[in-house]
Amino acid sequence: MEWGWLVLAAIFVAGHAQNNRNDGPRFLSRGHSFRTVVGDTLLLPCQVQNLGSLVLLWRRGPAVLTAASLMVTRDERFRLVDGYNLQITDVGPQDAGDYVCQISDRISRDQVHTVEVLVPPSVRASPESRHAAARRGGAAVLECRASGNPVPSVTWHKMVDSYNTHLNETNVRLADGPQLQLSRLERSHSGRYACTVDNGVGPPVVTEFQLQVLYPPEITVERSWVHTGEGFRAELLCTVLADPPAEVSWYQNSFPLSASERVTMSARGNNHTLLIANVQPEDFGNYSCVADNSLGRARQHVEVSGRPGPARFTSPPLARRAHAYTLAFAVDSYPPLDELRLLYRQLAINESFQQPGRWHDVVIPAPQPAGSLTHRVAHELHGLQPGAVYEAIVQAKNRYGWNEVSDIFQFHTLGGTHTAHAGELTPMFSTASHLREVSLAIFALITLVQLA
Ligand SMILES: *[C@@H]1O[C@H](CO)[C@@H](O)[C@H](O)[C@H]1NC(C)=O
Ligand SMILES: *[C@@H]1O[C@H](CO)[C@@H](O)[C@H](O)[C@H]1NC(C)=O
Ligand SMILES: *[C@@H]1O[C@H](CO)[C@@H](O)[C@H](O)[C@H]1NC(C)=O
Ligand SMILES: *[C@@H]1O[C@H](CO)[C@@H](O)[C@H](O)[C@H]1NC(C)=O
Repeated sequence: MEWGWLVLAAIFVAGHAQNNRNDGPRFLSRGHSFRTVVGDTLLLPCQVQNLGSLVLLWRRGPAVLTAASLMVTRDERFRLVDGYNLQITDVGPQDAGDYVCQISDRISRDQVHTVEVLVPPSVRASPESRHAAARRGGAAVLECRASGNPVPSVTWHKMVDSYNTHLNETNVRLADGPQLQLSRLERSHSGRYACTVDNGVGPPVVTEFQLQVLYPPEITVERSWVHTGEGFRAELLCTVLADPPAEVSWYQNSFPLSASERVTMSARGNNHTLLIANVQPEDFGNYSCVADNSLGRARQHVEVSGRPGPARFTSPPLARRAHAYTLAFAVDSYPPLDELRLLYRQLAINESFQQPGRWHDVVIPAPQPAGSLTHRVAHELHGLQPGAVYEAIVQAKNRYGWNEVSDIFQFHTLGGTHTAHAGELTPMFSTASHLREVSLAIFALITLVQLA
């Protein structure tokens, strides 16, 4: 730069001697603010009238870039074009600042351009691998440190659809700011997260993370009781959730099971299936699936039984008649049914009063062998009160024994002074499991009375 200043001084001295005229130099161009994007080419104008023998120079801060037609800066991106306009190619963030076009008379005002360089967003992700793992109940922090000009905004989304790589409304917006803090992690927090960094310069930058929530196995069984018969098959299904993935094994009456000609174990996704083909008497019993991972173990039981399945009521709850009702139900059983038992009673219900009547115990003749798994039974009840509410429970027996007592079923008869509407049928008990407990207790009580 030393020699640059020398040249400059010489030019100023020369210029000063010439400068005592009235129609002195005058800028035709005006000072401006320029916004440009990194990589672009920028042209800073400097047009002067009546320059005479004076000369121009460009500087940026104290640094002289050009003096007359001399390139003082060694940066080859700078060039003078069409007179004294300064062209900067491949603009970088370092080019931001004030550029001054100056007339060598030192009297005229300088022309100042301000250059702002816009920088598209960029991101530094943490963890760098974009994969975070934490235990359930623990915490995880995902971070997107953004840079760019202007300062970018950072927003976070959870990617809902695991096949969706684009952000749209189906993704849940979580937070703004460089950090996404997740605490008290649940299994459902597992999945893909994305930060979007945007400052309006160029397209937003989307960075994806994978969060893995680690937890011990959890098993749900499709049915904890599976009906089958000799010569038929039995299919047991355990759905296992675990991360890391669990090892699943099967037991029968606490002995480990291995695959055989009749027994196959398979897994599809989270579903683990035990299939017993051509069931033999020794196959009935208590099975369990056991799932292990590094965080723990879970076990669920499935009973494989030849006893009939619980009765399912199929008749409508409102009778078509006032004094009679046809109670219909279905029972699954591979062997023929041997015996059926029905208990029913009237419930006296009005706005202020709820009082059950006496139980009627009815033995229903076994239906003809169904020839299929499902046995359908219809039983006519006579001598009922009009406009009354009744409840019923049913039990069935085959050669393997009695089934579980059905849930309580309520129906009501037509007519009477009180015209019943479906809406008035207030269930006596709140939950199905409660009903099941109550019906079990009723059977136990009646059996005790009969034994006594
Ligand atoms: C959001 O993404 C899903 C999955 O790619 C797509 O089916 C859906 O049409 C998208 N919605 C919008 C509004 O773009
Ligand atoms: C797993 O079993 C459930 C319940 O039967 C079923 O809805 C689901 O589609 C099964 N999933 C796979 C991957 O087989
Ligand atoms: C199966 O065995 C387990 C434990 O041995 C027991 O808790 C469960 O009640 C049994 N289930 C049946 C239906 O016997
Ligand atoms: C409800 O039934 C009880 C017993 O049958 C009876 O004493 C009472 O008067 C009835 N109340 C109404 C409002 O019908």
